[in-house]
Amino acid sequence: MNAVLITGGTGKTGGALTALLRERGEPVRVASRTPAAGDPEAVRFDWADPATHAAALHGADRVYLVPPVNALDPLPLVEPFLAEADRTGVRRVVLLASALVFPGSEGALELAERIRARPGGVVLRASGFMQNFLAPHPMGERILRHGDIRTASGDGRVGWIDARDIAAAAAAVLTAPEEDAHGHGEERSDHLLTGPAALSYRDAAATLTRHTGRTVRVVPVEPEDVADVYRAAGLPDTFAVSLAAVDANIRIGRDDRVSTAVLDLTGRPPRTFAEFVRDHTAHYR
Ligand SMILES: NC(=O)c1ccc[n+]([C@@H]2O[C@H](COP(=O)([O-])OP(=O)(O)OC[C@H]3O[C@@H](n4cnc5c(N)ncnc54)[C@H](OP(=O)(O)O)[C@@H]3O)[C@@H](O)[C@H]2O)c1
Repeated sequence: MNAVLITGGTGKTGGALTALLRERGEPVRVASRTPAAGDPEAVRFDWADPATHAAALHGADRVYLVPPVNALDPLPLVEPFLAEADRTGVRRVVLLASALVFPGSEGALELAERIRARPGGVVLRASGFMQNFLAPHPMGERILRHGDIRTASGDGRVGWIDARDIAAAAAAVLTAPEEDAHGHGEERSDHLLTGPAALSYRDAAATLTRHTGRTVRVVPVEPEDVADVYRAAGLPDTFAVSLAAVDANIRIGRDDRVSTAVLDLTGRPPRTFAEFVRDHTAHYR
């Protein structure tokens, strides 16, 4: 009864977290709807199927919680899971939350509040992922196919973070001694995770152009056009509209923030956007 259950275990942060914890010799349970055959630590888990929750939690005393993707309100699916985690004695839950607040995300804010209030609960509020600039994210797809970024965010900046640094921060919190991670102060139960600098889409496009040999331009559009990009990628209409509305917040500077949390938690500075792009030049060829 000492494993870390990693929900979204095959995803961008969950996959990197799995690798980091394995390097440290931590027992893990890698949860997804499509567990890798032949991996004894892989477990089938579906938010929409509560019958899978208890089996996934079996043997876990800590949980990395990636809420259901593409759902505006995660609570109805996550509540039964948390009740089961309480029942089985999980002592630490680390929630991946978003620092980018968008319309209709009250359920996500409520979930974060509940995790903060839970003994051993820690919320990682992550800024926009640098991995959004890679396919299959809709923005990354457009960069590959059309060489452009369609945005309504003007010159507003975001403290873009590499998902690998989110995983490193999560690993630190999940493996911290009880007295460190179980602390009582707000500062211990909530961390704003960002990269080292805030960049506009124009700044990001210039870096992509410089390091990939592929010209990437920014096309200013209206929020409705941004929603079209998400709809075309198959996202539900309400979620596409809500995600597109994030651009309005970026435009007025709401996400122009950087924190020292990655350095404080892991002892290493977060990756710069240029480092991220250089690590993925093959992707853009
Ligand atoms: N992108 C950003 O800028 C950003 C910023 C802040 C926070 N976030 C948050 O990051 C989280 C991860 O999003 P992502 O797009 O990067 O996804 P991801 O973590 O790369 O992939 C999703 C993971 O969840 C699993 N999954 C999908 N549907 C599931 C279901 N019904 N039940 C159980 N597992 C399921 C997937 O595996 P299977 O498909 O095999 O089940 C995969 O492991 C989201 O909650 C998002 O709000 C994103």
